[in-house]
Amino acid sequence: MHVTAIVPAAGSGARFGATVPKQYLPLAGFPILVWTLRALAASGRIDCVLLVTPPGHEANCRAEILQPHGLTVDQVLPGGVDRQASVYAGLIGAPAETDLVLVHDGARPLVTPEIVRAAVEAAAADGAAVVAMPVTDTIKVTDADSRVEETLPRGRLWAAQTPQVFRAAWLREAHERALRDGFRGTDDSVLVERLGYPVRLVPGSPENLKVTTMADLAQAEQILRSRTRRGGGKR
Ligand code: CTP
Ligand code: MG
Repeated sequence: MHVTAIVPAAGSGARFGATVPKQYLPLAGFPILVWTLRALAASGRIDCVLLVTPPGHEANCRAEILQPHGLTVDQVLPGGVDRQASVYAGLIGAPAETDLVLVHDGARPLVTPEIVRAAVEAAAADGAAVVAMPVTDTIKVTDADSRVEETLPRGRLWAAQTPQVFRAAWLREAHERALRDGFRGTDDSVLVERLGYPVRLVPGSPENLKVTTMADLAQAEQILRSRTRRGGGKR
């Protein structure tokens, strides 16, 4: 199975509010993106890595993030206006022989090699696999005036994380159809789901957080400290 990883890291980090995109910020001594790329490499299941950066950042990212940390990727590509466009930019660069495409957020540095392997294995078996966690809050749907319209039954709700892994042909078809239909989704799975392909959920981890705010970065530091204490630090 030839597996290509697309790492969308082309966001600006508006909610984080730093002067540089959050994926470049240091986390326990290394840029967030370095942790992400190392975890993918450590899985031993990825044959090709396509990193998607903000347009114009390609050379800088190689010189300032990848090279100093001894990391190589197959291509650094310019991203698009939203996450979906950035993943699509990666998809266009995926080699023709790819069987599976794994998409993993650049801003999820704490993914473990075990989770990556589990997602790849599930997608190899079933065609599409998404790492997810059961929702612990009660989720309500509101109207435009914040009036509750509905409370969803929590037992059936999952929070989707990444990695998300798909047969390459399914993901290409899904992105192309979404583009034609003008459909914008916040993950890749929804694009595949709307074509009717089955998607299997794979257990994620509460530690596989997406760094969105300063508080997430602080929590990520804590988690890495406790991993080092447990002897699981992956530096
Ligand atoms: N991403 C991307 N291209 C975009 C927007 C987002 O590749 N145009 C990436 C981000 O870099 C991140 C992942 O998609 O790795 C998840 O997005 P998110 O956490 O929303 O990051 P940002 O969009 O950078 O943050 P914000 O929404 O706060 O601006
Ligand atoms: Mg965003």
